[in-house]
Amino acid sequence: MNARRNPDNVAAALVLFVLLAVGAALVGGIFLGRSTKGTSSAPATTTAAAQAVDPRVAAGAHDFVNFACAQCHGLDGKGGVSRYVPALKNLALTTAELKQIINHGAGVSANPTHPYMPVWGQVISDRQVDDLVAYIHAGLPAVPTATPIAVPTGQGAAVEGQALYSVYGCINCHGPNGLGGVPNPQSPDKTIPPLSGADFFKQFDTDAKITDVIVSGSVLGRAPIVSMPHWGGIIPANRLNALVAYIKTLKGNT
Ligand code: HEC
Ligand code: HEC
Repeated sequence: MNARRNPDNVAAALVLFVLLAVGAALVGGIFLGRSTKGTSSAPATTTAAAQAVDPRVAAGAHDFVNFACAQCHGLDGKGGVSRYVPALKNLALTTAELKQIINHGAGVSANPTHPYMPVWGQVISDRQVDDLVAYIHAGLPAVPTATPIAVPTGQGAAVEGQALYSVYGCINCHGPNGLGGVPNPQSPDKTIPPLSGADFFKQFDTDAKITDVIVSGSVLGRAPIVSMPHWGGIIPANRLNALVAYIKTLKGNT
């Protein structure tokens, strides 16, 4: 009995051991496979990108998109958007000159008939201006993910307009949801106007009135006063309609 049972037990134990070992290897393999994939693929690209670009240059590239410099000067400053807006490649401008232009503009005329360099000093921080200068001096290299957000189509003009409100950097001056509140200390109102509220919709009571001010701009005074940029020739007609449709969804339009 003992002699017969023992080999059986040994065989059973062996089978069990082999099964367990194979099972463990399979399970381990799957988990290891998953975890190597999980840790290597996605973060690896991010790490590579972060190593390839100086952080100050990368920050400047993102600012260039977020403040809509790219919408007037072209992506990576390549130009080609409007004959009034220069490309920013191979600029022979010093740090001091670049800071002056970004903070104070390039001397706007009182009644602009074409796009002019906006005054950013009240809106963009010194650190962000430094980063923009680093990016321009680095030759405006393409930086991964420093690209404008996608604009949805086929979902109505207001949805498109909401994205465009960020793409064209309106949000930086007029606040999220057009709520306003961005300081403009030297201007009569001391603040950049909201694009919402009863007073706004009373004054801008037609699509044409809203479109007109976006296209023409409106100069409140010289730097450091921030004025409304002139977007004529920059924003195409269908996108202007979308921006207006979005603005009309904001608070206070009854
Ligand atoms: C509404 C369009 C518009 C936007 C937005 C804009 N610019 Fe400009 N920029 C211009 C125009 C137009 C000029 C040419 C000077 C002028 O006519 O005012 C200019 C000039 C410049 C110059 C001087 C170029 C040269 O050759 O002398 C620099 C540098 C510059 N812009 C950087 C920027 C940066 C950085 C941003 C974003 C923070 C920006 N611009 C956003 C329209 C724009
Ligand atoms: C650099 C800051 C700046 C940016 C960017 C900007 N605006 Fe303005 N905007 C102003 C200022 C300042 C005024 C006030 C002008 C005035 O009172 O004459 C203004 C006025 C307006 C007005 C009229 C509101 C009023 O009460 O006078 C509308 C509408 C408007 N902006 C829409 C837009 C849209 C849409 C965008 C994006 C495409 C945009 N703005 C981008 C600064 C900005």
